[in-house]
Amino acid sequence: MGMLRTLRAVVRLRRPERRRSVRRLRAAANVDDLRRMARRRLPAGVFDYIDGGAEDESALKRNTGSFAAVGFRPRVLRGLGDLDTSTTLLGRPLAFPLVLAPTGFTRIADPAGELAVVRAAGRAGIPFTLSTMGTRSIEECASVAPAGARLWFQVYAWRDRDLIRTMVERAAAANFEALCLTVDTAVLGRRERDVRRGLTLPPEIGPGTFIDGLRHPGWTWRFLRSDPIRFANVEGSDRVRGDPGDGSTAVDLSAYMGSQFDHALSWKDVEWLRSIWEGPVLVKGIQTVADAVLAVEHGVDAVILSNHGGRQLDGAPAPFDLVPEVVDAVGGRTEVICDGGVRRGSDIVKAVAAGATATMGGRLFLYALAAAGEEGVDHVLELLRSGTERTMALVGASSVDELGAELLEWS
Ligand code: FNR
Ligand code: LAC
Repeated sequence: MGMLRTLRAVVRLRRPERRRSVRRLRAAANVDDLRRMARRRLPAGVFDYIDGGAEDESALKRNTGSFAAVGFRPRVLRGLGDLDTSTTLLGRPLAFPLVLAPTGFTRIADPAGELAVVRAAGRAGIPFTLSTMGTRSIEECASVAPAGARLWFQVYAWRDRDLIRTMVERAAAANFEALCLTVDTAVLGRRERDVRRGLTLPPEIGPGTFIDGLRHPGWTWRFLRSDPIRFANVEGSDRVRGDPGDGSTAVDLSAYMGSQFDHALSWKDVEWLRSIWEGPVLVKGIQTVADAVLAVEHGVDAVILSNHGGRQLDGAPAPFDLVPEVVDAVGGRTEVICDGGVRRGSDIVKAVAAGATATMGGRLFLYALAAAGEEGVDHVLELLRSGTERTMALVGASSVDELGAELLEWS
């Protein structure tokens, strides 16, 4: 008896959680844990499409490696006030310096797809960017966005400019805040994991994927039961001109983009986009100081430093490495967003301390979505927010304004 009482006094058992998803998430302490959970749940081809990069994947590795290579010079005893991770971007508030990046085919991670991510981003107080290759429409996303949510629309350079114009008009009608033109995709990068697997999007449940499907019955069941995956924003556009295909039949992404995208895209098109859209225009995929300067000269509202998460040009520079020189050249004249490789709150703090207004990230929420659906996305956004707050406290900054280059130690 006595021993039991003693035991009770020292051991506090956590009440068992009935819901499996919550139990699983409690064990996910960081983005890497969510990635491992996603790997277990997804068919290998789907996981590799999300996780992989171009060719030798050196740009992919550099994106995370560049954050890891920089340390802090923390200050102490600064009498920190209330910790405040909030900031402003394009003149509007941001709960912490992160924007969710546009990702194609989001519903292959989980059928809830973009709608889950829109809701989670809205709750977290950060913007969500819908991809042109998204699997939920502009209108569907707007209809589930919580009050005050910030939605951006990412534009790809379709040869069919009427198609772009129609999408832009729809984004305006649905109260999207900003356009984000992706410029690093003149052609699709060679993702060799996808080449080896003969990946089509959406994945075809053929003999090759059948066995893999049996190994991942949860994913396969949800995939087969939900409405078909399609390019929700391209659909129906054959009424406009030509037939770009709406993705409802499986396509080889590289061939599809090769036939639909215009590699003659130039700064003139940026001006054209500005002329048909009243709100902010951002350019995503800037990788040199020279192009950042040109972007400012063409009046873009924010430069997104990005190598497409290492999925396009292998050997491209890591966006975080570019931040100091780009901010030096154009910092006072435009906002600079650092996209790629963000896995922790400390990465966000490093990018902001180096001079970026905010960061952007894709895989962080895709892993979470695949691991545990909408709750997974809530979970990862809270990990990143609290990680930002904790790192700020540990380097001696109570507000984002107090983050400066003197807090960083470059090797
Ligand atoms: C992307 N990315 C991307 N970018 C874009 O402009 N349009 C798109 O449709 C897509 N699609 C896409 C799919 C998947 C599966 C991934 C992983 C990425 C690139 C994305 O916006 C962003 O630049 C990277 O994800 C940033 O790198 P991290 O955060 O994944 O390391
Ligand atoms: C990708 C395309 C959709 O990165 O942008 O896979």
